[in-house]
Amino acid sequence: MERNKVTLDLKSIKSDIRWSFADISRKETLYATHGYHRYPAKFIPQLVKKVIIKYSKPGDIVLDSFGGCGTTLVESKLSGRESIGLDVNKIAVLIAKAKTEEIEPCFLEQNNKLLLEKIKSSKDKRNYYEKANERLRYWFKASAFNKLKIIHDCIQEEKNSKTRRFYNCCFSNILKNCSIWYSRSIKPMRDNTKIIEKPFSAFTEHLNYMTQRNKDFFNLIKIKKVQEICCHMKKGDARKIKLPSEYVDLIVTSPPYVTSYEYADLHQLSILWFNFTDDIKKIKKDFVGTSSRKKAKRNIDSELAKATIQKLSDIERSHAKHVSNYYSDLSRCYKEMYRVLKKGKHACIIIGNTEYKNIKIPNAEVTVELLKNIGFKYIKILKRKLSSKIFTPYRDESGKFTDAGHGGKRRIYQYEYLIFAKK
Ligand SMILES: C[S@@+](CC[C@H](N)C(=O)[O-])C[C@H]1O[C@@H](n2cnc3c(N)ncnc32)[C@H](O)[C@@H]1O
Repeated sequence: MERNKVTLDLKSIKSDIRWSFADISRKETLYATHGYHRYPAKFIPQLVKKVIIKYSKPGDIVLDSFGGCGTTLVESKLSGRESIGLDVNKIAVLIAKAKTEEIEPCFLEQNNKLLLEKIKSSKDKRNYYEKANERLRYWFKASAFNKLKIIHDCIQEEKNSKTRRFYNCCFSNILKNCSIWYSRSIKPMRDNTKIIEKPFSAFTEHLNYMTQRNKDFFNLIKIKKVQEICCHMKKGDARKIKLPSEYVDLIVTSPPYVTSYEYADLHQLSILWFNFTDDIKKIKKDFVGTSSRKKAKRNIDSELAKATIQKLSDIERSHAKHVSNYYSDLSRCYKEMYRVLKKGKHACIIIGNTEYKNIKIPNAEVTVELLKNIGFKYIKILKRKLSSKIFTPYRDESGKFTDAGHGGKRRIYQYEYLIFAKK
């Protein structure tokens, strides 16, 4: 651990077991509303909670500018802190909102009965599949699609926007299992041999699960007396935060990793169903870490970033361009974090290193250098080992999840860093 004297040699830092949460099972990370929806690279709630308690006080405002599915917002609310979350991904916004809005349990149970009854008794026998968007036809079989369409349309008739979001979140989460999407991959792939879940059973089962979790969340909120605490999750860009300067008391966030997950691709089933766009390629460009952008012409205030880009360009120019765009985006995001943070307050950035064709992509070291050059005063770095109980760390060459015994496997992200920077 280093304080004040900032090191760029993170190899010398020992991993801190107090932050590894090795004894926590995956199930334990899904308490309250955390299990509403799958989401790639989401935080361990226990870790975020620890940061929030240590670096802020009740009533403070916590920001997560890469808000994802809202882990920081849920934990902020449960700890009595106001929170703001931003994400360019509209599906992330939907999930995070649903996860932070507790619904009165009796009302919800009654409403669920009406909704399920309406879906079951629907006499709609039309073949929507024939006229469906080409991309949706690619991922769904006709019978599942037509059943999903009935569920989707019944949900949209729900008048209460909070309840509608709750149902849409549930619907979004079952889409992969009701499609031929190959689930054990971080890349969009079809699996024509897949046993597809029946939409109505999948929806009912997940709805029951979410309803129970909502009840737990509702009760926790009541016990902790945090009903009045606000969570604002909005669609927004971390490179251009629409907040006044010196506005927030703590930032807890984790940027995407370069070309690791294409969030727009991974959520395309939901994006297409909710008609957010049918041009996935176009929205990809807004995502930090995407590979689908032309070269940015911005300076990156990190010697290490420049050296890494140079090494990459010697072996593959296209990858050098992605990494260059990524670091230039990160630099803009960190400047914005600095601007919106109050003086004397902390930003906690959680990030890991990756590699490409044996060249290290030192995201954590570059982050430290950028933060230092932006003007953050004190930088403290912690290293934590990722628990394989919670996270599948192995991938094969094509990006499919695989277990440790599998040939051609690669262990990625063995450690990550918590970088605490004080303004
Ligand atoms: C590592 S995930 C964050 C997960 C989050 N910590 C959670 O627990 O759900 C990174 C997030 O950054 C979002 N993102 C990518 N580019 C962004 C941008 N320009 N502005 C805001 N969010 C962005 C992605 O959509 C993704 O949700």
